[in-house]
Amino acid sequence: AGGPWEECFEAAVQLALRAGQIIRKALSEEKRVSTKTSAADLVTETDHLVEGLIISELQKRFPSHRFIAEESAAAGAKCVLTPSPTWIVDPIDGTCNFVHRFPTVAVSIGFAVNQELEFGVIYHCTEERLYTGRRGRGAFCNGQRLRVSGETDISKALVLTEIGPKRDPATLKLFLSNMERLLHAKAHGVRVIGSSTLALCHLASGAADAYYQFGLHCWDLAAATVIIREAGGIVMDTSGGPLDLMSCRVVAAGTREMATLIAQALQTINYGRDDEK
Ligand code: IPD
Repeated sequence: AGGPWEECFEAAVQLALRAGQIIRKALSEEKRVSTKTSAADLVTETDHLVEGLIISELQKRFPSHRFIAEESAAAGAKCVLTPSPTWIVDPIDGTCNFVHRFPTVAVSIGFAVNQELEFGVIYHCTEERLYTGRRGRGAFCNGQRLRVSGETDISKALVLTEIGPKRDPATLKLFLSNMERLLHAKAHGVRVIGSSTLALCHLASGAADAYYQFGLHCWDLAAATVIIREAGGIVMDTSGGPLDLMSCRVVAAGTREMATLIAQALQTINYGRDDEK
């Protein structure tokens, strides 16, 4: 038996693969690029096209379900997570990479019921890697089980982060000083790959030991959170408390010790909340 949300999970996988095909093809073509909240916050017609496809297909099959999605939110739709079955969609995570043809671009589809994340599907479009996680059933990449690293020591850690959209001097100063703190703590490296969801998938697969970011959104976090938890990892708030999907900030790691150490090292960058925009 596949469980109550089997049909939804299968639909998410099929749509992620279909979206991935569209994105792969569009990657090498001319793009029309616009900006959103800042000069570094980009959107293309492919973001809109793919989001429209995913939502309209899901709406046809599951008419009572709700949606939170990046470009709909940018157009003014509210991000509220109610107890109803809710799809949380990022049509292209890594839009800036997509625009530059930097081949680290993903589709992310998360699903929550009763405000609890049930499954996540993230498709690395160019490497054709499908990451999935289902609550209580493990996390996989192209059928192979994922397992986080067991590292507890920052001085042995490879740490991932993303810059976030703000570029004002105060934000940049905090961003760089957070990175400096981890380098002072002798982290082996700090990487910025341009896609929150794929960075979180690397964490889930044990290819990195920790991830932190200020300025990401619920659609960057929803699917990846299930995948990391099912791979044995920890996803928490940067305060050290429980994760708040709408808080625009996160620390994740293979171990609670690592996540706590990273959280303690960070200064907060305030990005507001997704559910208050
Ligand atoms: C963004 C990317 C970026 C990260 C942002 C995300 P988008 O997603 O993952 O690397 O810094 O926080 O919102 O806009 O390309 O879907």
